[in-house]
Formats: sequence, C-alpha cells, structure tokens
Amino acid sequence: MKRDLIAKALEARENALAQYSGFKVGAAIETADGRVYTGCNIENVSYGLSICAERVALWKALSEGAQGFREMAIVSSADILTSPCGACRQLLWEYCGDILVHLHSTKGLDKEHHLAELFPFPFDSRSLKV
Ligand code: THU
Repeated sequence: MKRDLIAKALEARENALAQYSGFKVGAAIETADGRVYTGCNIENVSYGLSICAERVALWKALSEGAQGFREMAIVSSADILTSPCGACRQLLWEYCGDILVHLHSTKGLDKEHHLAELFPFPFDSRSLKV
C-alpha cells in the first residue's frame, strides 16, 4: 500500500550515507505477494562509486530471490520530487517492467508515475532482435 511503502522508504532514508552531497534518498520496492525491500543512497569519496537508493533496494530484493515487483516509493526532502536517475530507470525497467512509482518529498509533495512514462522508448531485450 502506498502510504506504508512511503513510510518504509522514509525509514530507510534515515540510514542514507550522503556525506558528500548531503542529499538523502530512501526507496522501498514491493512484490506482488507483499514483500518489501528498502534501500538508501550510499556515497563514497570516489564519487562515481556512490549508489542510489533505488538500486540498493533493487539489488537487495533480487539477491534475496524476489520477483514480480508491483510498486516502488522514492523519498527525499527536496523542494521538487526526486525522480529516479537514468541508470536506475534502465535497471528498474529490466527487472520490474512498468511498475508504479510513488514519489514523495517530506516538503509535502507526492506524485505517481508508471515507469513507462518516466522511461519511454527503452532499450530492452526486444531491442536485440535482428
Ligand atoms: N540519488 C538517489 O539515491 N536516487 C535518486 O533518484 C537520485 C539521486 C542519490 C545519489 C547521490 O548519493 C545523491 O542522491 C545526490 O545525487
């Protein structure tokens, strides 16, 4: 459920290691059978090694054998809603398909999108057909 998923993402965000950007993000992803996996962003002094909250949640879920994702929540405290970065969109599309994505900011902003809206005309397995 949307509100519960956002609450779990907010809880995960508390663990964000955003010591370089100061920008804390939380994510929670839910399977069709109701299992929830959470993530936060984890940064590194070698900035490019930092990882987004969405990917942490997705890797945790996949590595535990989860499949069949239904929805995801992504939360921050930004003035505008935090939408997944391009790399995360590609990965979410691969493993989750057209899931519902709830965006939430503690500034009181909320919006929902299907991933296909955020990631139109994707490069995916269909693209490899020759
Ligand atoms: N970040 C996320 O975790 N998810 C997003 O959707 C956008 C960006 C992180 C990466 C980096 O640690 C910080 O936010 C600033 O870009």
